[in-house]
Amino acid sequence: MPPTHAPGTDYGVDAPAVMRNLFLVGIACLLAGLLLPRVLHLGPVALQTRPSFLWPAGFFIGEALLFLLYVKYGKFRHRDLMLSKHAWQGDEQVLDIGCGRGLLLAGTAKKLTSGHATGIDIWSTEDMGGNAESATQKNLQLEGVADRCTLVSLPAQEMTFADASFDVIVSNLCLHNIYDKPTREQALSQIVRVLKPGGVALISDYKLTGEYADHFRNAGLNVTTQWGSFLTTFPPLRIVVARKPA
Ligand SMILES: C[S@@+](CC[C@H](N)C(=O)[O-])C[C@H]1O[C@@H](n2cnc3c(N)ncnc32)[C@H](O)[C@@H]1O
Repeated sequence: MPPTHAPGTDYGVDAPAVMRNLFLVGIACLLAGLLLPRVLHLGPVALQTRPSFLWPAGFFIGEALLFLLYVKYGKFRHRDLMLSKHAWQGDEQVLDIGCGRGLLLAGTAKKLTSGHATGIDIWSTEDMGGNAESATQKNLQLEGVADRCTLVSLPAQEMTFADASFDVIVSNLCLHNIYDKPTREQALSQIVRVLKPGGVALISDYKLTGEYADHFRNAGLNVTTQWGSFLTTFPPLRIVVARKPA
């Protein structure tokens, strides 16, 4: 089944400055390759401009287009892959860490009947274009799941939930934004603390997933990892599946 989202929803552009810069550098290289004289004499060096600029142009524009494919299509497919790692009963208490504009939060809420989904975020507009609690709330309403969701402004490393509060914890492209390792470790310890025995954490990111997996293993969780699609997740995303023994 193709990945879905409700009409009118807007799940934003991840790291918008990165995508913009990839396009800008690519276009600058393309123009340089096409418009500069074919050979530039820089002192003793003769620079062949076409290969020197057109290959990087292809590289940067290609990366920008892959990024766009993720934003417009791949993120919904990746969400569905992540959520397929749990056998949903409908009564789960779910936490989405760094929910952004509600991609995973709305996705999990649609799996719930009597359960509830909580999304936490610090609403960074560097990490997600147009990031705001109100934008997420609008998406939840358009998806018809607002009654099953709560949004909380809270950093991952400072979670205030009681121990063993959640059956399922999800997070996509959030934890790498915590730049220093001790604070990241704090966030990972919080995940272990608020996860119920028998619960599962599904943590996806483009880097540091080995670090997350090691932390969860050392905390006694059973861990496996799985790559997302290399074509439709850019940068390639890996999912850490960490199950807390019952
Ligand atoms: C790239 S966006 C991804 C959003 C969403 N998970 C998705 O896949 O569409 C990363 C999100 O993590 C949030 N974030 C960054 N650092 C955080 C932290 N320490 N605690 C909670 N959220 C954080 C940002 O505000 C942003 O909404």
